[in-house]
Amino acid sequence: MSVRIIGTGSALPQKEVSNEDLARLVETSDEWIRERTGIGSRHISTGETVVSLAAGACKKALENAEKTAAQVELLLVATCTPEQGIPCAACQVQSILGAENAVAFDLNAACAGFLFALHTAWAYIEAGIYQNALIAGSEVLSKIIDWDDRGTCVLFGDGAGAVLLERGTRPGILGFVQHSDGTKGQVLQCDSRKLENPYISESQYAPYVQMDGREVFAFAVRQVPACIAEVLERTGLTPDDVDLYVLHQANRRIIEGISRRLSVDMQKFPMNLDRVGNMSSAAIPVLLDELHRAGRLREGMTLVLSGFGAGLTYGACVLRW
Ligand code: UT7
Repeated sequence: MSVRIIGTGSALPQKEVSNEDLARLVETSDEWIRERTGIGSRHISTGETVVSLAAGACKKALENAEKTAAQVELLLVATCTPEQGIPCAACQVQSILGAENAVAFDLNAACAGFLFALHTAWAYIEAGIYQNALIAGSEVLSKIIDWDDRGTCVLFGDGAGAVLLERGTRPGILGFVQHSDGTKGQVLQCDSRKLENPYISESQYAPYVQMDGREVFAFAVRQVPACIAEVLERTGLTPDDVDLYVLHQANRRIIEGISRRLSVDMQKFPMNLDRVGNMSSAAIPVLLDELHRAGRLREGMTLVLSGFGAGLTYGACVLRW
């Protein structure tokens, strides 16, 4: 028995915002953003929502897998920017798709969210509870960004990616590791709703992303290679056995640091952050979909997926395509 990805899809907001556009909003430049991050432009919502983007990506993943919405048994949406606390985004996506037979719920592990959702779905399928799962990573980060803060507003983009996972006989997911470190939560945070009730006079409220960029950078370059080495060891593979490393797209310099620590050529690290920025939980499935549609994923290839972000949370997965 194995669990495999059998379809991918993605959806991005229509509006593209270049570095030059941002230089008209805050004191920054195309040169600084490209040099320090590798980002050139990103898609920003002018009305698209976490739900509409996730539904768009899920529809494409279903078409790609030649399955119907009614066949889906589990529907997970990884997001840290849902429009509504209740109902969850996954139930709203279920309704749009007509996936009436699915069990649907959300999962939030920030930028590692898609990977944690993939692991959750894998465990359900491995346990024989469901035969398949539709998993989306969807974010509209532009609503939790402080557009006056040049240290964060240049980094993020909006979008969604999805995969359909199915129990099968050919090799698929080979192994997973996940980690969380709640003691470092303060390095990347954003409040949700303010505490307001008749029994409180005043409460602290910081509704926009606050980040210690250097701390997050150092954490990623230290922990992600260790986490990848751990999952490879568990599956009896070496870094050279891997054909492609599909990593969370936060910063080109982070990815270069990870490639150096693993002693793996940068050719094996595909990137799209120059066009889409950091889309948190949507980053990995959108990149996976782009690679798939470009014909860069051939049967039998070994891939490592790895995500990291607020929490702190991080994880890695090895799979055979
Ligand atoms: O999914 C995980 C989410 N977060 C991340 O992945 C973030 C990881 N961290 C990073 O990517 C980098 O730390 C940043 C890109 C956020 C910042 O790069 P850095 O090289 O660490 O810059 P810095 O924060 O040390 O700032 C260096 C200088 C500062 O000016 P001074 O104090 O040296 O005069 C900043 O004020 O760059 C300035 N700066 C900017 N300048 C122009 C910060 N942001 C900008 C900007 N444009 N957008």
